Amino acid sequence: MTRSHSLVAERLSAGYADNTVLNDLDLAVQPERITAIVGANGCGKSTLLRCMSRLIAPSRGQVLLDGRSVHHRPTRELARTLGLLPQSPIAPEGITVADLVSRGRHPHHGLISRWSKADDAAIAAALDATHTGELADRVVDELSGGQRQRVWIAMALAQETDLLLLDEPTTFLDVSHQIDVLDLLTDLNRARGMTIVMVLHDLNLAARYADRLIAMAAGRLHAQGSPEEVLTEANLEAVFGLKSRVIPDPVSGRPMMLPIGRHRAA
Ligand SMILES: Nc1ncnc2c1ncn2[C@@H]1O[C@H](COP(=O)(O)OP(=O)(O)OP(=O)(O)O)[C@@H](O)[C@H]1O
Ligand SMILES: [Mg+2]
Repeated sequence: MTRSHSLVAERLSAGYADNTVLNDLDLAVQPERITAIVGANGCGKSTLLRCMSRLIAPSRGQVLLDGRSVHHRPTRELARTLGLLPQSPIAPEGITVADLVSRGRHPHHGLISRWSKADDAAIAAALDATHTGELADRVVDELSGGQRQRVWIAMALAQETDLLLLDEPTTFLDVSHQIDVLDLLTDLNRARGMTIVMVLHDLNLAARYADRLIAMAAGRLHAQGSPEEVLTEANLEAVFGLKSRVIPDPVSGRPMMLPIGRHRAA
């Protein structure tokens, strides 16, 4: 089982040079739940995940993990608790799948600690869960987009953190692998109580898999709550400027959105 942690952003502002992206944002991640963040391109979703995992520093406010600022914690200690799968990770040139996934174990080692059976077991479990075992000896640069994405997910899983932030984990994946990854994250959440925060562009999968949805617009949280509370026609119009119908998903009973464009509507 994982340990329960509180992850909170308080009055967070952050951005790049003179471009303020996040503006006075407050967020409390629900422990041991799955949260999906949705919102238009450029609204600040990745910036929020980067700030929560301390890849970038806030210009104002703070991110607290169990009451202590993530920006003041030792790197290795933070990486044993909180993992991030970035939106477009870059693999070192020529690295093999096995080597990349094993890098997920680095935070678990000090200067002198040896490679252990626990490391081997974590890597084997991560390769197995993502169906990437048969790719272990391949060079990461030579994989298809979807294969590569699954390898990065394997590396994040090998890190065995209690909290996992994933920025568009289903990009590049075919529909069957998308469902596979979301089912796998749900298994990890249910079996180990892993807290998961993920950015997704597929609103219907977000509504189906998340316990809690957050809709962002222009660097702020426009709406947050259950999928029923957040995936509404009014919120979709406000956040995406798009008219839609929302009906119950016949498979899950969760809300499902059908976009209304300028063509092909009956
Ligand atoms: N490294 C960077 N340097 C400068 N500006 C950046 C950088 N990364 C993002 N931005 C800008 O910050 C804003 C928010 O970007 P962010 O990547 O957080 O958006 P997003 O919601 O994740 O979008 P998407 O859905 O396209 O991934 C955008 O205007 C973007 O151009
Ligand atoms: Mg992004």
